[in-house]
Amino acid sequence: MSSQTSELMVRIWDLWIRTFHWALAASITFLLISGNTGFLFYEWHRHIGEFVLLLIVFRILWSVIGSSNSSLIKLIAHPLRALAHLKHLISGQVPQERGHNAAGGWAVLAMLLLIGFQAVSGLFIADEDELIEGVFYGVIDYDLSERLLHLHHLNAELLMVLVGVHVFMVLLYLLRAGQNLITPMITGRMRWLDKTSPPTVRFTANWIGLVLFITCAVIIAWILNWFKF
Ligand code: HEM
Ligand code: HEM
Repeated sequence: MSSQTSELMVRIWDLWIRTFHWALAASITFLLISGNTGFLFYEWHRHIGEFVLLLIVFRILWSVIGSSNSSLIKLIAHPLRALAHLKHLISGQVPQERGHNAAGGWAVLAMLLLIGFQAVSGLFIADEDELIEGVFYGVIDYDLSERLLHLHHLNAELLMVLVGVHVFMVLLYLLRAGQNLITPMITGRMRWLDKTSPPTVRFTANWIGLVLFITCAVIIAWILNWFKF
């Protein structure tokens, strides 16, 4: 390690956060498109939607046993801190963070919440012609199912806006504040330029993530009857 003033490469995101992120981004892009292309991708809409549910369950549990900067509880920051961060961003002067910042944290929570609702509601609905049916369609009252279908459509629009804002903000960091958040989400490492030493992050071994992912997959497969148990 060199002196405090020179730049350091530090680990920020573990393998599982990165895998989760890009698998989620690809799946949500597909779902937002396939939800609007009629019967063409209906079967895949259902399969990928259920896969997203697996990703979300995994991410919530990883928040508890994963690396310290994957904690979701810690993202609940005071709104004034989030606002102060956005003001800094507008002026192009944001301090570096080894994890999510106060404003980004709220966006992450909102995205996970909307995506979780979307995946769960999908299980209980069917389209008008019943060409695509969620695995639990018919288990709940028909009126409630209709209401969930309506919310599935509405929530999809909110999600599109939120994802748009998310990508816009990441680009704003790059262009306005000169902070490249994208490369660390790919490589897991960031260039630490601050004069202060980087905050400590505790990393969890990758194999623990693998065991957790397989456990979640088996449980989701059993609940959603993937292999006709
Ligand atoms: C449908 C598309 C996308 C969704 C649903 C999505 C969702 C998310 C979520 C949930 C997180 C939090 C990660 C975690 O803590 O687990 C995140 C972080 C991040 N995403 Fe995305 N994302 C999408 C597309 C993109 C794209 C296209 C880019 C690159 C341009 C991107 C760049 C990032 C970066 C850099 C972070 C980390 C931000 C930080 O440093 O705090 N995302 N995204
Ligand atoms: C996070 C996961 C999901 C996302 C992002 C998503 C997204 C979408 C979108 C964008 C639409 C079109 C809404 C509109 O036309 O305004 C849609 C419709 C629909 N989705 Fe999903 N969906 C997800 C999960 C699921 C799951 C697991 C199922 C289970 C089968 C499902 C079943 C349906 C049905 C039945 C429709 C209505 C199609 C129609 O009315 O023609 N979705 N979804």
